[in-house]
Amino acid sequence: MRQEEVSGWVNAARSAFATAKDLDSLKVARLAHAGDKSPIALASRGLGALSPEEKASFGKIIGEAKAEIAQALAQATQALEIERDRKVLLEEIVDVTLPVNRAHRGGLHPITIIKNEVSDFFIEQGFAVAEGPELESGWLNFDALNIPADHPARTMQDTFFIEPIESGMVLRTHTSPVQIRTMLTQQPPIYVVCPGRTFRADELDATHSPVFHQVEGLVIDKGITMAHLKGTLDNFARHMFGPDVTTRLRPSFFPFTEPSAEVDIFFNNRWIEWGGCGMVNPKVLATCGIDTDLYSGFAFGMGLERTLMVRHGITDMHDIVEGDLRFTRQFGVGI
Ligand code: PHE
Repeated sequence: MRQEEVSGWVNAARSAFATAKDLDSLKVARLAHAGDKSPIALASRGLGALSPEEKASFGKIIGEAKAEIAQALAQATQALEIERDRKVLLEEIVDVTLPVNRAHRGGLHPITIIKNEVSDFFIEQGFAVAEGPELESGWLNFDALNIPADHPARTMQDTFFIEPIESGMVLRTHTSPVQIRTMLTQQPPIYVVCPGRTFRADELDATHSPVFHQVEGLVIDKGITMAHLKGTLDNFARHMFGPDVTTRLRPSFFPFTEPSAEVDIFFNNRWIEWGGCGMVNPKVLATCGIDTDLYSGFAFGMGLERTLMVRHGITDMHDIVEGDLRFTRQFGVGI
């Protein structure tokens, strides 16, 4: 075993490690030049058979050669690992500026958004939210509310009657029957809001829809006066239209309230009719079994479409009912 031969192994190992193009080929080179069956390993194992003098001199040569090979291997490994890490970083780079195919999450309709907004406002003040059926008995929709049998609202031109006519069922024309349902099942104090869908035999045009939404408010307690009604409407209006809005009550008539008023708001420099209101007619309280000597109350009701249209300057009801996403999306998702 000659010194030159050993140098040859070292050189061969060095150049094999240096030319390995990646960690896989380096592994092959390592097995060939530094593995168990490599010439240097075989020579190292053969040392045992040599005489003590030979063992000393060749042992030194082989030891040095092994160290050189190990160092070359370590160098090549380090270089190839750096190279691999750099490649991985480049390959896995994410370009956050690339356009993506956005999937829309869906959202709530503006009417649902405003309905939730109204409910939340009243819930914060201790009101409960009450709901009733859209298919309602004529008694609850009209009679219990003191609307006489010959009232024009009860004609075919205004109300959707359900066949057979003798069933006495109608699509509710307002949310006021929910007042009755509440008073029939609960004792005062009563503080409720009733948002819901309502129906009237109107043609769909810029300001009317046969299907629309109302929110009704009802308070029955001891000592309730019109001042409470006015205060509640003022707060409600400010919440819906902003702090600068003012309200006014204009004398009016509803069979179920006495006295009755229209509530107007002064918004965007003009008076706009917003809804109806009044002190609950004692006849209605009595029908529902409420002691009129002890209790009084107020009620109000307004259209949600109208509220939305006034607040957002929407001029065409079609936009609200058609469900065109270009319109709907402007109100956000509402969730
Ligand atoms: N129910 C009435 C309507 O639909 C509104 C209203 C509600 C008026 C409550 C007074 C009190 O026009």
